[in-house]
Amino acid sequence: PKERGWRTPNLYLYQHFWCQPKEIQAIISVQNHYNAENTDLIVATIPKSGTTWLKALSFAIVNRRNFAHNQKNHPLLTSNSHELVPFLEYKLFADYENIPDMSRFPRPLLLGTHMPINALPDSVMDLKCKIVYMVRNPFDTFVSIWHFMNKLRPEYLGPLSLEEAFDMYCRGAIGFGPYWDHMLGYWYESLRAPQKVLFLKYEEVKENTCFHLKKLAEFLGFPFSLEEEEGGAVEGIAKLCSFDKMKDLDVNKTGKGAITAGFENRDLFRKGEVGDWANLLTPLMVERLTDIMEEKLAGSGLTFGVFC
Ligand code: A3P
Repeated sequence: PKERGWRTPNLYLYQHFWCQPKEIQAIISVQNHYNAENTDLIVATIPKSGTTWLKALSFAIVNRRNFAHNQKNHPLLTSNSHELVPFLEYKLFADYENIPDMSRFPRPLLLGTHMPINALPDSVMDLKCKIVYMVRNPFDTFVSIWHFMNKLRPEYLGPLSLEEAFDMYCRGAIGFGPYWDHMLGYWYESLRAPQKVLFLKYEEVKENTCFHLKKLAEFLGFPFSLEEEEGGAVEGIAKLCSFDKMKDLDVNKTGKGAITAGFENRDLFRKGEVGDWANLLTPLMVERLTDIMEEKLAGSGLTFGVFC
């Protein structure tokens, strides 16, 4: 089966999720060649749910013994978080002819992925490595994707209208989607094995970043000491990784290639707000998406506050 694509002419169904042909190759390479270790830490999201932010927060937590949040040469001040926490499928295993030698990377390995939980290699689920998942309300995620895709979409495909994109989104035809299956996969695993998967919501982390930073640090195995808390380390990391701070860095204003070659880093930072969907979606669109989410999430216990 195939669907119209957002950045490529078509999307294809692979193992029950939609992706571009090049992504399928890379995902097969991840599945065949990435052997997880117990200490690996994986940041997982569906695109536009706060991946850049979650990678920054996780990197800052795990590496804070080497790089204090207020250190002038902190890597997050000169590198985009996607460079520090590389994607399995876009970076490390993107070229199936060049399998990386991960033994030379510092431990613990911090890795990113958009792959659905069922598509991850068995070693990830069998070993003790941990997964942090961030979800974002589907309304804002859609708006974020629509803006993003129209920036990256090659000229020969023409712009993607809001209506057309919304229809594709509602049918689940979106990279790594249907997004409801994606979030529910990680959600159920977080309920079954809370020591394995930490499930975070973008809106909640935004609302109370310090509380969730402590939770994240504890989960990742790098809890803050009382001394660190009193010294302002939690607030310091929240600030270092805040939207305003990251957006204004040179590397994020003019840098390129954090995810794939040629990619403009600034396209990862738009508004970073909760509720921007209200500026764009019509009441009919809101109704359609609310109905879909209610139906898909029914009985799961996963909700999005006022959204659905
Ligand atoms: P908007 O388009 O709504 O502004 P991803 O990192 O998964 O690609 O998600 C991108 C979205 O996260 C964009 O949302 C972007 O602005 C927002 N974002 C990027 N950095 C952020 C940060 N440090 N804090 C909060 N949101 C951030």
